Amino acid sequence: MKNSVFIATSLDGFIADINGGIGWLDSIPEINKIDTGYTAFTSHIDALVMGRKTFETVLSFGIEWPYKMPVFVLSSTLKKVPSELKQKVFVINGNLIQILDQIHQQGFHQLYIDGGTLIQNFIREDLIDEITITIIPILLGAGIPLFGSHSKSLAFECVKTTLFIDKIVQNKFVRVRS
Ligand SMILES: NC(=O)c1ccc[n+]([C@@H]2O[C@H](COP(=O)([O-])OP(=O)(O)OC[C@H]3O[C@@H](n4cnc5c(N)ncnc54)[C@H](OP(=O)(O)O)[C@@H]3O)[C@@H](O)[C@H]2O)c1
Repeated sequence: MKNSVFIATSLDGFIADINGGIGWLDSIPEINKIDTGYTAFTSHIDALVMGRKTFETVLSFGIEWPYKMPVFVLSSTLKKVPSELKQKVFVINGNLIQILDQIHQQGFHQLYIDGGTLIQNFIREDLIDEITITIIPILLGAGIPLFGSHSKSLAFECVKTTLFIDKIVQNKFVRVRS
Protein backbone atom coordinates (compact mmCIF):
# COMPACT_ATOMS: atom_id res chain seq x y z
CA MET A 1 0.00 0.00 0.00
CA LYS A 2 1.38 3.38 -0.92
CA ASN A 3 0.09 6.96 -0.92
CA SER A 4 1.96 9.07 -3.44
CA VAL A 5 1.95 12.73 -4.41
CA PHE A 6 2.96 13.94 -7.88
CA ILE A 7 2.64 17.70 -8.04
CA ALA A 8 4.08 20.91 -9.45
CA THR A 9 4.94 23.88 -7.28
CA SER A 10 6.28 27.36 -7.76
CA LEU A 11 9.80 28.06 -6.51
CA ASP A 12 8.24 29.37 -3.30
CA GLY A 13 6.19 26.24 -2.75
CA PHE A 14 2.71 27.16 -3.98
CA ILE A 15 0.50 24.78 -5.97
CA ALA A 16 -1.86 27.52 -7.13
CA ASP A 17 -1.90 31.30 -7.05
CA ILE A 18 -3.97 33.33 -4.63
CA ASN A 19 -7.08 32.89 -6.83
CA GLY A 20 -6.53 29.16 -7.25
CA GLY A 21 -5.12 29.77 -10.73
CA ILE A 22 -2.52 27.47 -12.26
CA GLY A 23 -1.75 29.39 -15.47
CA TRP A 24 1.80 29.94 -14.16
CA LEU A 25 2.42 26.20 -14.74
CA ASP A 26 2.76 27.18 -18.40
CA SER A 27 5.26 29.97 -17.70
CA ILE A 28 7.86 27.79 -19.39
CA PRO A 29 5.94 26.75 -22.53
CA GLU A 30 8.41 23.98 -23.43
CA ILE A 31 7.17 22.03 -20.39
CA ASN A 32 4.16 20.89 -22.41
CA LYS A 33 6.46 19.25 -24.95
CA ILE A 34 8.49 17.15 -22.52
CA ASP A 35 7.78 14.03 -20.52
CA THR A 36 8.05 14.86 -16.83
CA GLY A 37 7.12 11.32 -15.82
CA TYR A 38 3.39 11.67 -15.21
CA THR A 39 2.44 8.72 -17.41
CA ALA A 40 5.08 6.50 -15.82
CA PHE A 41 3.91 7.60 -12.37
CA THR A 42 0.22 6.92 -13.04
CA SER A 43 1.00 3.52 -14.57
CA HIS A 44 1.63 2.33 -10.98
CA ILE A 45 -1.50 3.96 -9.54
CA ASP A 46 -4.79 2.14 -8.81
CA ALA A 47 -6.92 5.14 -7.83
CA LEU A 48 -6.77 8.88 -7.34
CA VAL A 49 -7.83 10.50 -4.06
CA MET A 50 -8.61 14.16 -4.70
CA GLY A 51 -9.67 17.18 -2.67
CA ARG A 52 -13.05 18.68 -3.58
CA LYS A 53 -11.48 21.98 -4.74
CA THR A 54 -9.07 20.22 -7.10
CA PHE A 55 -12.02 18.21 -8.46
CA GLU A 56 -13.93 21.44 -9.12
CA THR A 57 -10.86 22.92 -10.80
CA VAL A 58 -10.61 19.93 -13.14
CA LEU A 59 -14.35 20.22 -13.95
CA SER A 60 -13.90 23.94 -14.68
CA PHE A 61 -11.50 23.11 -17.51
CA GLY A 62 -14.49 21.87 -19.47
CA ILE A 63 -12.42 19.13 -21.06
CA GLU A 64 -13.06 15.43 -21.46
CA TRP A 65 -12.60 13.66 -18.10
CA PRO A 66 -8.81 13.10 -18.04
CA TYR A 67 -8.51 10.16 -15.62
CA LYS A 68 -8.76 6.48 -16.52
CA MET A 69 -8.46 5.31 -12.90
CA PRO A 70 -11.27 5.61 -10.32
CA VAL A 71 -11.29 8.99 -8.57
CA PHE A 72 -12.36 9.33 -4.93
CA VAL A 73 -13.24 12.95 -4.17
CA LEU A 74 -13.02 13.81 -0.49
CA SER A 75 -15.70 16.28 0.52
CA SER A 76 -18.17 17.01 3.28
CA THR A 77 -20.17 19.42 1.09
CA LEU A 78 -20.34 17.92 -2.39
CA LYS A 79 -23.69 16.23 -2.88
CA LYS A 80 -23.47 14.93 -6.43
CA VAL A 81 -21.19 14.64 -9.40
CA PRO A 82 -22.07 15.20 -13.06
CA SER A 83 -24.11 12.21 -14.29
CA GLU A 84 -21.52 11.22 -16.91
CA LEU A 85 -18.95 10.74 -14.11
CA LYS A 86 -21.09 8.55 -11.85
CA GLN A 87 -19.18 5.37 -12.66
CA LYS A 88 -15.80 7.14 -12.43
CA VAL A 89 -15.98 9.55 -9.49
CA PHE A 90 -16.99 8.63 -5.95
CA VAL A 91 -17.56 11.22 -3.23
CA ILE A 92 -16.28 10.09 0.14
CA ASN A 93 -16.11 11.77 3.53
CA GLY A 94 -14.87 11.20 7.05
CA ASN A 95 -11.80 10.19 8.94
CA LEU A 96 -8.80 9.52 6.66
CA ILE A 97 -8.00 6.11 8.18
CA GLN A 98 -11.60 4.96 7.61
CA ILE A 99 -11.60 6.44 4.11
CA LEU A 100 -8.38 4.58 3.25
CA ASP A 101 -9.86 1.36 4.67
CA GLN A 102 -12.89 1.72 2.42
CA ILE A 103 -10.70 2.36 -0.65
CA HIS A 104 -8.36 -0.55 0.15
CA GLN A 105 -11.34 -2.88 0.64
CA GLN A 106 -12.33 -2.11 -2.95
CA GLY A 107 -8.93 -3.39 -4.10
CA PHE A 108 -7.15 -0.05 -4.63
CA HIS A 109 -3.83 0.11 -2.81
CA GLN A 110 -1.51 2.35 -4.81
CA LEU A 111 -3.06 5.77 -4.38
CA TYR A 112 -2.34 9.15 -5.95
CA ILE A 113 -3.18 11.92 -3.46
CA ASP A 114 -3.96 15.32 -5.02
CA GLY A 115 -4.98 18.74 -3.69
CA GLY A 116 -3.17 21.06 -1.28
CA THR A 117 -5.42 20.83 1.78
CA LEU A 118 -5.91 17.13 1.22
CA ILE A 119 -2.17 16.46 1.00
CA GLN A 120 -1.66 18.51 4.18
CA ASN A 121 -4.33 16.45 5.94
CA PHE A 122 -2.58 13.25 4.89
CA ILE A 123 0.78 14.59 6.07
CA ARG A 124 -0.68 15.52 9.46
CA GLU A 125 -1.47 11.85 9.94
CA ASP A 126 1.84 10.70 8.44
CA LEU A 127 0.03 8.96 5.60
CA ILE A 128 2.21 10.08 2.68
CA ASP A 129 4.88 7.63 1.49
CA GLU A 130 6.25 9.33 -1.58
CA ILE A 131 6.30 12.90 -2.94
CA THR A 132 7.46 13.94 -6.40
CA ILE A 133 7.67 17.72 -6.77
CA THR A 134 8.28 19.42 -10.09
CA ILE A 135 9.48 22.96 -9.37
CA ILE A 136 8.49 25.65 -11.83
CA PRO A 137 11.05 28.45 -11.34
CA ILE A 138 8.67 31.28 -10.66
CA LEU A 139 8.09 33.13 -7.39
CA LEU A 140 4.37 33.67 -6.93
CA GLY A 141 4.71 35.50 -3.61
CA ALA A 142 1.37 34.18 -2.37
CA GLY A 143 -1.04 31.37 -3.11
CA ILE A 144 -2.13 27.93 -1.96
CA PRO A 145 0.84 26.23 -0.28
CA LEU A 146 1.75 22.59 -0.81
CA PHE A 147 2.84 22.20 2.80
CA GLY A 148 1.30 23.48 6.02
CA SER A 149 1.93 23.12 9.70
CA HIS A 150 1.98 19.80 11.52
CA SER A 151 3.09 18.77 14.94
CA LYS A 152 5.99 16.39 14.35
CA SER A 153 8.82 16.38 11.85
CA LEU A 154 8.75 13.63 9.23
CA ALA A 155 11.96 12.45 7.56
CA PHE A 156 12.15 11.86 3.80
CA GLU A 157 14.98 10.70 1.58
CA CYS A 158 15.56 12.23 -1.85
CA VAL A 159 15.82 9.24 -4.20
CA LYS A 160 15.87 10.98 -7.57
CA THR A 161 16.52 14.41 -9.04
CA THR A 162 15.93 15.25 -12.69
CA LEU A 163 16.65 18.51 -14.51
CA PHE A 164 14.38 19.08 -17.51
CA ILE A 165 15.38 21.39 -20.37
CA ASP A 166 17.97 23.02 -18.07
CA LYS A 167 15.13 24.89 -16.35
CA ILE A 168 12.86 22.67 -14.30
CA VAL A 169 13.94 20.48 -11.38
CA GLN A 170 11.98 17.48 -10.23
CA ASN A 171 12.74 15.82 -6.89
CA LYS A 172 11.33 12.53 -5.69
CA PHE A 173 11.23 11.98 -1.92
CA VAL A 174 10.41 8.79 -0.07
CA ARG A 175 9.29 8.73 3.56
CA VAL A 176 11.85 7.13 5.86
CA ARG A 177 10.18 5.41 8.80
CA SER A 178 12.50 3.98 11.42
N1 LIG B 1 0.19 22.57 -8.94
C1 LIG B 1 -0.41 21.40 -9.03
O1 LIG B 1 0.20 20.42 -9.54
C2 LIG B 1 -1.79 21.24 -8.48
C3 LIG B 1 -2.29 19.95 -8.22
C4 LIG B 1 -3.56 19.82 -7.66
C5 LIG B 1 -4.31 20.95 -7.36
N2 LIG B 1 -3.80 22.16 -7.65
C6 LIG B 1 -4.59 23.38 -7.33
O2 LIG B 1 -4.83 23.40 -5.94
C7 LIG B 1 -6.07 24.06 -5.69
C8 LIG B 1 -6.92 23.18 -4.80
O3 LIG B 1 -6.22 22.86 -3.62
P1 LIG B 1 -6.81 23.24 -2.19
O4 LIG B 1 -5.73 23.07 -1.21
O5 LIG B 1 -7.46 24.59 -2.29
O6 LIG B 1 -8.00 22.20 -2.01
P2 LIG B 1 -8.13 20.60 -2.15
O7 LIG B 1 -7.17 19.91 -1.26
O8 LIG B 1 -8.20 20.20 -3.57
O9 LIG B 1 -9.63 20.44 -1.58
C9 LIG B 1 -9.90 20.78 -0.25
C10 LIG B 1 -11.25 20.22 0.09
O10 LIG B 1 -11.17 18.78 0.12
C11 LIG B 1 -12.06 18.28 1.09
N3 LIG B 1 -11.34 17.50 2.10
C12 LIG B 1 -10.03 17.54 2.43
N4 LIG B 1 -9.76 16.64 3.40
C13 LIG B 1 -10.92 16.00 3.66
C14 LIG B 1 -11.31 14.96 4.55
N5 LIG B 1 -10.42 14.36 5.37
N6 LIG B 1 -12.59 14.57 4.55
C15 LIG B 1 -13.49 15.14 3.75
N7 LIG B 1 -13.18 16.14 2.86
C16 LIG B 1 -11.93 16.56 2.84
C17 LIG B 1 -12.77 19.48 1.71
O11 LIG B 1 -13.92 19.67 0.91
P3 LIG B 1 -15.31 20.24 1.51
O12 LIG B 1 -15.04 21.68 1.79
O13 LIG B 1 -16.29 19.99 0.42
O14 LIG B 1 -15.57 19.43 2.78
C18 LIG B 1 -11.76 20.59 1.48
O15 LIG B 1 -12.34 21.88 1.46
C19 LIG B 1 -6.74 24.28 -7.04
O16 LIG B 1 -6.52 25.64 -7.39
C20 LIG B 1 -5.97 23.37 -7.97
O17 LIG B 1 -5.91 23.87 -9.28
C21 LIG B 1 -2.57 22.35 -8.19
